[in-house]
Amino acid sequence: MNKIKNTLFTVKPVTIDNNSLIMAIESSCDETACAIVKGGRKVISNVVASQIKIHEEYGGVIPEIAAREHLEAINVVIDEAFKQAGVSGNQIDAFAGTVGPGLVGCLLVGLNAAKSLALTYDKPFIGINHLNAHLAANFIDTDLEPPFIALLVSGGHTQIIKVNSYSDMQIIGETIDDAVGEAYDKVARLIGLPYPGGPKLDKLAQEGNPFAFKLPEAKVGEYDFSFSGLKTAALRLVKSFDGKDLPLADICASFQECVSSTLYKKVKHALEETDFKQVVLAGGVAANSEIRKKIFSLADLGYKVYAPAMKYCTDNASMVASAAYFFDNTFDNIDVEVFSRVK
Ligand code: KG4
Ligand code: ZN
Repeated sequence: MNKIKNTLFTVKPVTIDNNSLIMAIESSCDETACAIVKGGRKVISNVVASQIKIHEEYGGVIPEIAAREHLEAINVVIDEAFKQAGVSGNQIDAFAGTVGPGLVGCLLVGLNAAKSLALTYDKPFIGINHLNAHLAANFIDTDLEPPFIALLVSGGHTQIIKVNSYSDMQIIGETIDDAVGEAYDKVARLIGLPYPGGPKLDKLAQEGNPFAFKLPEAKVGEYDFSFSGLKTAALRLVKSFDGKDLPLADICASFQECVSSTLYKKVKHALEETDFKQVVLAGGVAANSEIRKKIFSLADLGYKVYAPAMKYCTDNASMVASAAYFFDNTFDNIDVEVFSRVK
């Protein structure tokens, strides 16, 4: 793939191809990350500073604290990414940064750092949508090319997307209330697991009986989702034990079964209706053991299935660099502003 981008000061055309190095920065929530990726698929360096330990004591991300932590970490993370790759700023062909959606104060730190690097080294700047970045995690170390159906499941979003080409995507279904990661974190909190509860709930679920309790599946549009009713049902179930002998693993396993089978059914339906042969799992919740297992079982029906390696599921900057390389619907204007939500 060849793309032509202009540098910022001299407006010199730069060709982005298989050998190009893109440095990207991600700071949309509670991870400060910087990475260098070659040709969109080969990670040269990947540095992530997580703030989970800091937010754990509040049971969730506090935006102001998160933004300050990004400020503290950003230069260290950038230096480390250069160091691990053994390259200098002059050798980078373009700089990319997450524009949104995310926490505005947090995004500002990473985006301005990426813009500053592009200005300093007089290279192109590429602004990236965080959701496109999660999808692009699937290009790392693979030969994936569109068209494909994507299931994007993160802390803030749950979508089924028809990726027709690098420049043409359609969201065909999404959640009408909670995102999958959000539902995991809320139910985990309910049963006393520390933030972020999703991975911990997943771990407990692996020891339980997924059919111990029948939890309700929402009846919404063909590709849409709703998880708030399930969350309430989980709350009622927990309360019914009145604090005595709570069968934690069985509750977690039953919750996980309900979520993963809903996701599986809707994705399978989307594949059948669109006739696409490839399916991609993306977002932080793509790290979930049962959701991975069910989506990978689509391979038995003849579909080619992709999911990022664990370290590229949750927020990282390699996926941002990969999105900058592959996707056309990016924000290449140095004046682009951060945004908190998709309009
Ligand atoms: O993509 P991500 O890092 O941040 C957003 O863009 O939102 O996703 C974070 C979300 C959190 O809600 C976290 O609990 C969830 O992903 N998560 C999981 C697992 N690993 C991360 N949820 C369920 N099972 C997991 N193994
Ligand atoms: Zn994310």
